[in-house]
Amino acid sequence: MSNPVSSTTGKIRTVELGSGGPLVGVQGFGAMGISVAYGDTDVAAARDTLEASLEAGVTLIDTADMYGHGSNEEFLAPFVAAHRDEITLATKFGFELRADDPNYRGISNDPGYLRRAVEASLRRLDVDVIDLYYMHRRDPAVPLAESVGTMAELVREGKVKHLGLSEVTGAELREAYAVHPITALQSEWSVFSRDVEHSAVGAAAALGVAFVPYSPLGRGFLTGAFTDANEELSSSDFRTLLPRFSGDNARANAALLAPLHAIAADRGASTAQIALAWVQQRAEVHGLTVVPIPGTRKRSRLLENAAATRITLTAEELALLEPIAGQVAGDRYADMSHTSAAREAK
Ligand SMILES: NC(=O)c1ccc[n+]([C@@H]2O[C@H](COP(=O)([O-])OP(=O)(O)OC[C@H]3O[C@@H](n4cnc5c(N)ncnc54)[C@H](OP(=O)(O)O)[C@@H]3O)[C@@H](O)[C@H]2O)c1
Repeated sequence: MSNPVSSTTGKIRTVELGSGGPLVGVQGFGAMGISVAYGDTDVAAARDTLEASLEAGVTLIDTADMYGHGSNEEFLAPFVAAHRDEITLATKFGFELRADDPNYRGISNDPGYLRRAVEASLRRLDVDVIDLYYMHRRDPAVPLAESVGTMAELVREGKVKHLGLSEVTGAELREAYAVHPITALQSEWSVFSRDVEHSAVGAAAALGVAFVPYSPLGRGFLTGAFTDANEELSSSDFRTLLPRFSGDNARANAALLAPLHAIAADRGASTAQIALAWVQQRAEVHGLTVVPIPGTRKRSRLLENAAATRITLTAEELALLEPIAGQVAGDRYADMSHTSAAREAK
């Protein structure tokens, strides 16, 4: 079979991000890890990786106010300024940022807080309008009609073009959509994490909402790089806190990757590419527009990931990958209380 890595020529294909949404490359870029969360950053390499995204046609650029307490948005600002018309810029609010306590991790969808959050993001990104503004986490203390209603006001005021939600259930997505059209739902979806298929995926497909799978490489685990993060990562790396990355869980999960490695070897592709091809194709089964947002600090990996959009897995290959998610050891987060999965379970 041909090697999809070497076939990275030209730009990836484009799709409409949800009905009436912007035209974007069929794979986006998750910018969180280029400056925070996953160890040290080589600034020049990170900036070069951002430039490579546009060369590959990767135009949906994803950040959030909570990544590095605003610093990830600031890191992106020069790139955004240089390419404002070429990119679709997405950011998020919902984790409450407190100036006096950078480690505070509460959630707020309060309309007053939301209004302060959007102004702060606009300032840090140095833009007049945010193309896609997500509610990062649902705050059950605030009715969706109120929080999404305030987000809709931001659209009418020209501060935001499109609305998105992250980690909501199918029922919550429908409730929000009744207040204002939602362009994209961003939640974790990968070979390892399929709880969104319970209700969110079906609701998004029915409503014409695009799905933006975050951590489509399982935060790097699906590349085959880990067997026990506590030994392999610095103590400052966020992943040392994730149940799937440590000790017996990590060792058991690494063994689950055998079919991914085998398919990759057979195709002359990388394991990461097979994981990305899976999420792209899994969405097609559901009749859904999907734009995964893998993150990387390296140009070569960005091009490798973009090339995965050209891989089509066979039915036999998909069948080999099907049982994996049901066998994964450990939750997605140490504290699952803010995820859609926690609310689905109730
Ligand atoms: N809505 C939410 O709640 C939420 C939560 C988490 C993330 N996100 C968004 O989703 C984006 C992506 O998620 P993520 O960064 O958590 O995880 P991910 O994309 O699944 O994995 C990123 C990790 O994989 C490595 N990697 C990427 N491509 C690779 C390749 N081809 N070969 C080997 N390793 C590769 C990267 O390492 P290097 O950097 O060293 O290449 C990085 O450590 C984030 O940037 C963020 O924008 C959203």
